[in-house]
Amino acid sequence: MSDEKTIKDSSQPAPLHGLLAEYTSPQQILEAATRVREAGFKQWDTFTPFPVHGIEGAMGIKPTILPVLVFCAGLTGSIIGLTLQWWTNAVDYPWIVSGKPFWSLPANIPVIFELTVLLSAATALVGMLMLNNLPHPSHPLDLKQRFARATDDRFFLLIQASDPKFDEQATRKLLDETAPVLVDEVAEDRVTEDRLPKVLVYGLIVLAAAALIPFALIARARETKSPVPRINLVQDMDYQPYVKAQKEFTFFADKRADRPQELGTVAVGELKSEHLETGKLSGAFARTFPEEIPVSAETMARGHQRYDIYCATCHGLSGNGDGMVAKRAEALAQGTWVPPTNLHQQYLHEQPVGQLFNSITHGVRNMPAYGHLVPAEDRWAIILYVRALQRSKAAKLSDVPESERKSLE
Ligand code: HEC
Repeated sequence: MSDEKTIKDSSQPAPLHGLLAEYTSPQQILEAATRVREAGFKQWDTFTPFPVHGIEGAMGIKPTILPVLVFCAGLTGSIIGLTLQWWTNAVDYPWIVSGKPFWSLPANIPVIFELTVLLSAATALVGMLMLNNLPHPSHPLDLKQRFARATDDRFFLLIQASDPKFDEQATRKLLDETAPVLVDEVAEDRVTEDRLPKVLVYGLIVLAAAALIPFALIARARETKSPVPRINLVQDMDYQPYVKAQKEFTFFADKRADRPQELGTVAVGELKSEHLETGKLSGAFARTFPEEIPVSAETMARGHQRYDIYCATCHGLSGNGDGMVAKRAEALAQGTWVPPTNLHQQYLHEQPVGQLFNSITHGVRNMPAYGHLVPAEDRWAIILYVRALQRSKAAKLSDVPESERKSLE
């Protein structure tokens, strides 16, 4: 406001900053403000100890442009968030992640929301400061002792001398007519410096310029080639004497880094019996469970759980061949569907457990293999449970404990 008028030479009287009128009631300041507005002044303000209802109307204060700025900033944030994600995920680098669509609005809402809030909030803060001409280190009114009562019980109105309509005599007359307690001259501030210290200003300029250097360096690095390896300050485990998958490695004759499994080798502690691994004993399907698998309630519970996960989808929870997948496939009636076998058929009762194991491991006719998904121990547990299912539908009275038989007869 008074930048160029800050005069350090105190031998000269300080120029007039404006005229200050003091009132004792909100009603008075409302009336005074109305008069001053009607007189056509532009550079003036009121100061009250509390918000006075109707003062904006009396002063003719128009709504600020800030909401519009904030709305535009928010909108810009949304659009940036939206296009950034769409461009990176769906256009520039489409990459399938878990079969999700490249572009899907719900997944992108959080970033859009964040950017909207970020830009709106920043604009609201910076806009408010700029529209209010802040920061404003000093004001001529700060030097007026009486003015301190603006925070207590007095109402002030200041008309600035810089107003085109300002004329000391006429303006004083106008203010006198509004019945103030007193009209006082306010001199320009010659005591305090109302500019930011020069060191600070230049320091900020230098800092702002320096902040651009990293961007310049990045831009240059992207456009130029260098034979020197890049500087890697934090090396962590970047350089290690190991070979990467799918890379050349001259140590071996075939120069492949990836080594095929050596046939016939078994990792330490992983040697399992033929019975457990293949379900066979001397080439024929085993009729007994392998030694390693205890036929116990615990194995049964495990088998029950695994069966419900891996088999029930097709064969049904009770083994009738009516799982959800089977039902759905039949409903679709596409004609190529082979229904899952009903596990209660006589020939499956008679099949050796080793053959059932073989069917799960390698699949059978149209049934896919499950050996790669279900470890051998679990396959045996499943078979134990399948046996229990079969027994449940073909139980004889002799299977029931003697004490219970009476109740069934
Ligand atoms: C994707 C569906 C599906 C799943 C899951 C499935 N099966 Fe099957 N299963 C079939 C179909 C279909 C057949 C009949 C194949 C044929 O006859 O071509 C079959 C047949 C069988 C047979 C009869 C084999 C024979 O000798 O006739 C057994 C036993 C069997 N499944 C057990 C299991 C067990 C145990 C599991 C769980 C590990 C399982 N299946 C998981 C679809 C499935």
